[in-house]
Amino acid sequence: MRERYLGRKKGAVSQLLARLKEFAPADKPRAGQAVNGLKAFIEASLAAALERRAGDAGGSASAWRDHSLPPSELPVGRLHLIADIQRRIEDIFLQLGYEIAVGPEIELEDYNFTKLNIPEHHPARDEQDTFFLEGHDDRVLRTHTSPMQVRYMLEHKPPLKIISPGKAFRKDDPDATHSPCFHQVEGLLVERGIRFSHLKGTLEAFCRSFFGPDIVLRFRPGYFPFTEPSAEVDISCFMCRSGQGAIQAGDCRVCKGSGWLEILGSGMVHPRVLGNCGIDPEVYSGFAFGLGIERVAMIKYGVPDLRLLYENDLRLLGQFG
Ligand code: DAH
Repeated sequence: MRERYLGRKKGAVSQLLARLKEFAPADKPRAGQAVNGLKAFIEASLAAALERRAGDAGGSASAWRDHSLPPSELPVGRLHLIADIQRRIEDIFLQLGYEIAVGPEIELEDYNFTKLNIPEHHPARDEQDTFFLEGHDDRVLRTHTSPMQVRYMLEHKPPLKIISPGKAFRKDDPDATHSPCFHQVEGLLVERGIRFSHLKGTLEAFCRSFFGPDIVLRFRPGYFPFTEPSAEVDISCFMCRSGQGAIQAGDCRVCKGSGWLEILGSGMVHPRVLGNCGIDPEVYSGFAFGLGIERVAMIKYGVPDLRLLYENDLRLLGQFG
């Protein structure tokens, strides 16, 4: 614009000024005044336009900006490692057609223990392990996410296919691997004709998606009151890969040389649990599993002490998410 109107030779104003000599002497002063007035107007307008533009860009008129430069880094937050892992797990199961169901952290003792076939005098119910609520004898801070299985089965008819992430609580003294509050993801699938092979296939698909495509799973017999049979599941160490015979475990810092990492508990839903929740075990069967998010965080990212995850130290948290 400046060039077009005020350019030295071709600018419109300059050309008008050059033609002033064509005016009769008597008219010249007035013509000159008019053209100079026009020039002052255009200069003022251009200056004002520049000012506006600088204002839009948040700078001053004199600070020219190169709008093609990459932006400076904005101080954006990120998800906490636990939230991040939880969402990744959710994403994988959503892709497998699961729904996400979230249950309460204050849970009925009946759902947390009894309906899950954990008998009245089971040591897990001990005051030393469970937070009971004063004035509410029938309620506890849930000690695992498994009671959500009960809630969901009581309220829905099969087929059921859910995961349930959330917090769980136990009266544990904090140390490198324990925290009174921790996170789990529960899984439950109930339908006609569900077999152990479905559980294996599902956990294999999940672990390969989460830890890596050549992860191998190992099912060891285990015991949980709410599943029969029950299995503890290990994955081959994704760090040294020795579980697959690829290389020697040696002193692998992740699996401590064993080649395997224990990552979850699982099994076929106990017929008594199905019955307790109004589902006919003669017609339906199902599998369930539960995994600890902190444990997954520690093995996947080599976090040496669980307490680090709760200390809000940005030097650690800033590396993830
Ligand atoms: N609730 C168990 C715990 O907290 C984990 C678990 C094991 C959940 C086996 C399950 C399962 O659903 O089938 O230790």
